[in-house]
Amino acid sequence: MSRFDDRLAGRTALVTGAASGIGAALATELGSRGMSVVVADVDGDGAERVAESVRALGVRALGVQVDVADPESVENLAQASYDEFGSVELLCNNAGVLLLGNLTDSSMDDWRWLSSVNVEGMLNCLYAFLPRMRRQSGWRHVMNTSSTHAFLPDPAFTALYTAAKHAILGLTLGLRSELAADDIGVTALCPGQAATRILDSQRNRPTEFGRRAAEPFGTDVIPMAIEPADVAWLAVEGIMRDAPIVFALPEHSHAQFREQVKDLWRMADGALVGSTDGFTGDLDEEQALRVDR
Ligand SMILES: NC(=O)c1ccc[n+]([C@@H]2O[C@H](COP(=O)([O-])OP(=O)(O)OC[C@H]3O[C@@H](n4cnc5c(N)ncnc54)[C@H](O)[C@@H]3O)[C@@H](O)[C@H]2O)c1
Repeated sequence: MSRFDDRLAGRTALVTGAASGIGAALATELGSRGMSVVVADVDGDGAERVAESVRALGVRALGVQVDVADPESVENLAQASYDEFGSVELLCNNAGVLLLGNLTDSSMDDWRWLSSVNVEGMLNCLYAFLPRMRRQSGWRHVMNTSSTHAFLPDPAFTALYTAAKHAILGLTLGLRSELAADDIGVTALCPGQAATRILDSQRNRPTEFGRRAAEPFGTDVIPMAIEPADVAWLAVEGIMRDAPIVFALPEHSHAQFREQVKDLWRMADGALVGSTDGFTGDLDEEQALRVDR
């Protein structure tokens, strides 16, 4: 069934990390709604393959090889996109990599690689595209892919990735306030457990950052996970209603995720009342915040 959407049709979307998983599904969803799509990825052949399948939907698509961690490469991407389409109305900063494992077993090279793609990669894209998008008028939107990990109270085994995804959430919500003045919408996409190749992220790890020998959970597609196409549909629906945050996780984990988010607020609430167990009634908020040395 065609999902042609006259609010989006004829406009241009750019999706990073679009050769695989959630990014490929976003490119397909946006193309099926009538948008022209720039399919950008460090995997240039993969980007071209996805661009070809988007063109088969009857819209224009351009596959571009880009390393989001490299500002010059991102500037070339921006130039190529504007040369081809003249404008970009929807910027989806989605490229990302994952590393699992204990913080104490990780290295600074692990962090440098994770942050170079997830955080600096996003900043490179924002610095290249926002000045151009600001010069346009009409509907414009930025979506940054964070994770449910930005909301989980217990990041054991994922502390580095969680730190990067927290950074993205903070960046996104800050940007949302900032860009309100330009009438540019901003959304944080927070997927959890999507059936993609994310466990095999090291396939794209540059040699300068070394490489960890083994992945603790292997490199297969995550089981019992939400389909990338469903993540993409939720994301685009969220963009269209200018949602600050869009969650996208498999149905079997909805209840558990709600409890985990509540745990996070319970921890904050506990800090406010000076207790580790949440509210006890022993202290009031004013006392917990007061400096009394
Ligand atoms: N799969 C999940 O469960 C899940 C959960 C939460 C968040 N996410 C996030 O979703 C986003 C998409 O990941 P995915 O799950 O589709 O994984 P994926 O591995 O299938 O796709 C990621 C894509 O990013 C590309 N990429 C990696 N480094 C790059 C670079 N330097 N420059 C440009 N492209 C680069 C890869 O080539 C790949 O095509 C990531 O930001 C990830 O952190 C995924």
